[in-house]
Amino acid sequence: MTLPALPTVRLGQDGPVVGAQGLGCMGMSEFYGPTDTAEALATLDAALEAGVTFLDTADQYGAGRNEELIGPFVRAHRDEVVLATKFGVERRADDPAYRGVRNDPGYIRAAVDASLRRLGLDVIDVYYMHRRDPAVPIAESVGAMAELVAAGKVRHLGLSEVTGAELREAYAVHPIAALQSEWSVFARDVERSAVAAAAELGVAFVPYSPLGRGFLTGSFAAAEELAADDIRRTQPRFSGANAAANRALVEPLREIAVARGATAAQVALAWVHQRAEVHGLTVVPIPGTRRRERLAENTAAVTLRLTVEELAVLEPVAGRVAGERYPDMAFTSVGRE
Ligand SMILES: NC(=O)c1ccc[n+]([C@@H]2O[C@H](COP(=O)([O-])OP(=O)(O)OC[C@H]3O[C@@H](n4cnc5c(N)ncnc54)[C@H](OP(=O)(O)O)[C@@H]3O)[C@@H](O)[C@H]2O)c1
Repeated sequence: MTLPALPTVRLGQDGPVVGAQGLGCMGMSEFYGPTDTAEALATLDAALEAGVTFLDTADQYGAGRNEELIGPFVRAHRDEVVLATKFGVERRADDPAYRGVRNDPGYIRAAVDASLRRLGLDVIDVYYMHRRDPAVPIAESVGAMAELVAAGKVRHLGLSEVTGAELREAYAVHPIAALQSEWSVFARDVERSAVAAAAELGVAFVPYSPLGRGFLTGSFAAAEELAADDIRRTQPRFSGANAAANRALVEPLREIAVARGATAAQVALAWVHQRAEVHGLTVVPIPGTRRRERLAENTAAVTLRLTVEELAVLEPVAGRVAGERYPDMAFTSVGRE
């Protein structure tokens, strides 16, 4: 497949320039079924070749293994890729199921050093706070992140799953280059406050799970068909009666895809790009994939433009979804709005 040249955009007011679509690397190490290192590394090569230069990881993906996986690739192409990682979700070696949220400055200082060590880098391009612990004032956490910029360990700051008010408070402490939160045809609660704040401040929006974790593509129809340790089994909208009801909502994407000679994944990605235009927002979706074939399919989505009629068909979908995005919405921005 010959891929289109990917347009480039700048993250935030003075952030790096990246391809207008990035690559989510999470599934290469954990959460979404079996992993294959050789195919993952080939996918990173294919991404760079296609102009997909913004790579997304986090310290918690594979409990550090995802940073270790992509670190050598980033080192080999240091000036060509922009590497984003995250801190804030704590895991424990003696309890694989444990997840804590930590935003305190001492934790942040230790987390950045651990990420730099696993990645084998001197500096992280974009460092996100992954989840918010409301017990720690956001100004305190962002103040500690700003110190990492001053120390040369981090180039630019990002936040994930924060509300519009939290983004404004953070921005008053230090410029924020990117806000990463879930945004798709299927998940639009960020449009309540976060999107408007990002547009107003000139913060780039990085939609995660733009394919609804694969559900919008039809790659799975119910959590019950996934591996026992697949994290989507814990997410309410993919199980039982919710999944059965939500399957019908994916139909319009499929119909548009067929009519346009595209795929449902491409329709879902085109929707995010065009929805951001409505809000006057720079957007860099980071669809996740472990495979070259899908990387190519997703990259080709940047040439698809949905018509006003097609957008109107997709408009009511999110409002009809059964089930929450997470079992505990307290750790999302909407849980604090
Ligand atoms: N900040 C946060 O809290 C947060 C939360 C979740 C994710 N993220 C980040 O965002 C990235 C993307 O989100 P995500 O991976 O959760 O969800 P996603 O991008 O919506 O969907 C990924 C899933 O869709 C499948 N897929 C990808 N392209 C496809 C295509 N063209 N056709 C059919 N299936 C396709 C993938 O499987 P294959 O691998 O088999 O292609 C994978 O199972 C992650 O990798 C991670 O870096 C951040």
